[in-house]
Amino acid sequence: MGGLRTALSSKQGSKGSIHMKTPDGLDIQRGLESTLFSEIVDGIPVAALFIGDEDRITNANAAARMLFGEGLVGRHYIISMRHPGLLDAIEGTRRHRQTSRTRYIATRASGEVTYRVTVSPIANTSVLCVFEDITEQEQAGLMRRDFVANVSHELRTPLTSLLGFIETLQGAARDDAVARGRFLEIMAREAERMNRLVRDLLSLSRVESEERVRPRTSTDIVALVNTAATALRPTAEQSRVVLEVVGEEGPLNVPADSDQMMQVFQNLIENAIKYGAAGSCVTISVTRDNSNTQRLGPTVSIAVKDEGDGIDPIHIPRLTERFYRVDNHRSREMGGTGLGLAIVKHIINRHRGRFRIESRKGEGSTFTVILPQS
Ligand SMILES: Nc1ncnc2c1ncn2[C@@H]1O[C@H](COP(=O)(O)OP(=O)(O)OP(=O)(O)O)[C@@H](O)[C@H]1O
Ligand SMILES: [Mg+2]
Repeated sequence: MGGLRTALSSKQGSKGSIHMKTPDGLDIQRGLESTLFSEIVDGIPVAALFIGDEDRITNANAAARMLFGEGLVGRHYIISMRHPGLLDAIEGTRRHRQTSRTRYIATRASGEVTYRVTVSPIANTSVLCVFEDITEQEQAGLMRRDFVANVSHELRTPLTSLLGFIETLQGAARDDAVARGRFLEIMAREAERMNRLVRDLLSLSRVESEERVRPRTSTDIVALVNTAATALRPTAEQSRVVLEVVGEEGPLNVPADSDQMMQVFQNLIENAIKYGAAGSCVTISVTRDNSNTQRLGPTVSIAVKDEGDGIDPIHIPRLTERFYRVDNHRSREMGGTGLGLAIVKHIINRHRGRFRIESRKGEGSTFTVILPQS
């Protein structure tokens, strides 16, 4: 270890420190160890740096230099790493010769990056610091917690209402036939909301689990759009909305899972009816693009356009998040779970397609699905 320690306390650029000075070959040996050690630190697949005997950083791989800046090697570690938690962990390991762990958050142009830092004692006084980027793991954990909180909240609202009505029906309204009829109607609505939520959750989980399996069945997309429009015409009529399908006459076959694509068109058309203006028109246009403008090869686009209030641009990037609703109250009133567009996005991803949302406040919205023709 003595040789290693000497090598480690040597200054920057230890890779080139092979000198043939002594006849016994000791320097050659140390130089080789030093080169080997440098290569080990360079080969660690995450940011890693080594603090040697004299409190100086003697080795740092490229990822560590990206993190703390070039010129790191040879510097006192306190100057390079000013984060108190990180310095405490290094001090602790140096003093007690035990591995310590901490978190380090770096601010980048793209946002914050979180690292799990492991500081390990090496030889008598040196330490090795390894930085693992755990940003994605942390975000996934956060999303999972948010998701569970959202599901619980969405289920609790109708459940609380159901429990309240059951209690009233068992007590005060026991013999009131009129109240009973009205309450049962509300209870049926609330139960239906819970049913829809569970159905959408199952659908989302199924779509997610199949996302990597590309659909191969050849499906006539024009026929599918027409079937979805026909199924929703009665709903449109109730809102005095005219549904129009224009463009390609078909048949126009693309590889697609017909049940899932039906779900996509139904949700988009239903949204256009729900959030479009009463007495207006919803246009669904199917167009074929044989050039390669989307870099998907030849494509088919299905655009669902409404004449509603439109969506504020700040909401657009978030619409496909689970449970994201522009107007919570309005969406709930209309029986929406806020999962529709999240399901749409996953289905389109599975089909290697693209999804575009364009909207202007006061001018309506257009939701476009772009699918590769083969
Ligand atoms: N055509 C549209 N015009 C205006 N806002 C829209 C339109 N489509 C969707 N939105 C907004 O996007 C939100 C998310 O839509 P999404 O389809 O995911 O949920 P939902 O329609 O509320 O419920 P669900 O589809 O699960 O029954 C809606 O709550 C609404 O605020
Ligand atoms: Mg919807």
